[in-house]
Amino acid sequence: MDMCKVNQPLYDKLQILESKGKEMDTMGRLKAMEGPLLFWYREHARSLPWREEPLPYRVWISEIMLQQTRVEAVKPYFERFMKSLPDIKALAEVTEDRLLKLWEGLGYYSRAKNLKKAAEILVSRYDGELPASYEELKTLPGIGSYTAGAIASIAFGIPVPAVDGNVLRVISRVTESHEDILKQSVKREMEERLKTVMPKEAASSYNQGLIEVGALVCVPNGAPLCGQCPLASLCLARIKGLTDVIPVRTPKKARRIEDKTVLVLCHEGRVAIRKRDDKGLLPSLYELPNLEGHLNEEEILFSLDVDKADVFPLPSSKHVFSHVEWHMAGFCVELQGKTAGEFLWVTAKEIRQTYSLPGAFKAYTKLIR
Ligand code: ADE
Repeated sequence: MDMCKVNQPLYDKLQILESKGKEMDTMGRLKAMEGPLLFWYREHARSLPWREEPLPYRVWISEIMLQQTRVEAVKPYFERFMKSLPDIKALAEVTEDRLLKLWEGLGYYSRAKNLKKAAEILVSRYDGELPASYEELKTLPGIGSYTAGAIASIAFGIPVPAVDGNVLRVISRVTESHEDILKQSVKREMEERLKTVMPKEAASSYNQGLIEVGALVCVPNGAPLCGQCPLASLCLARIKGLTDVIPVRTPKKARRIEDKTVLVLCHEGRVAIRKRDDKGLLPSLYELPNLEGHLNEEEILFSLDVDKADVFPLPSSKHVFSHVEWHMAGFCVELQGKTAGEFLWVTAKEIRQTYSLPGAFKAYTKLIR
């Protein structure tokens, strides 16, 4: 469509819809979304691997991967995961190291660990299948109200909402809600309302339509593309020019900064790695040895308890987690004579193929050949 030419009859119709829109109450407004939303989704839904074959296991894995991760980044991981672990039994039996290797680069590794825990429960209590029940899905590790709603509606057609960040943004704009969308109570109220208005026979398309509008039109970063939005005539934030103030999010606390010195510690063609603590950030994952603070050469050798080594500086690097930022200074330390500390000495090939090192160390692991 030529967006520059004004289509007067259509414009008049929208004006009428708009003035009607203003008079609606919130539930009426939400109810009125169904038609335009389902029509739009039929025409605009992206073809995605988990959509083409929405089996419960595939929907579950895709939804967990899509938390905090973009669709384009998820696609190759999803395909590889499905090939390596094609069903719940395979996931329950996989070793943690292999699972983390499959997850390497996606971040938020507790998601992968929860998948395995849930798969073990499914094998022992549910005959290796996901239950077709929103409430039972919610009892599984890593499955909250959003994921339970997505699996229940997309894989089983159960009419329950799936409210994620996309949906919170779309609905708070449509209804002109000035409430903080990061509050659990706001999400719960939205779930209640959507449950009442959503169509009982088209739960999958309805939920995915809302997610899709949020991802493609009412976009998370930058101005919404209201000219392409099926909900534009109902959307109070658009009508009143409030899309830059809604959704409301209270500012988060500043992240804690942690200075670190990361070591690529080499000895006879091998590199040192070690396992992190099983609690706290990146629990039980392998890491490059690292020391608190930004240390100089002398301090590094002192901490390693070695007196002979060649030390070269590497580029500094920064990694941002949700609550913490690592500001890293890097050094390559080529040990001569004895090795240092309690490390696992591995080859570059083993780092690539066997041990999963978190993306936070990427600036240094990519130098290991
Ligand atoms: N983001 C989260 N869930 C999604 C889905 N089912 N389709 C596309 N993007 C998503």
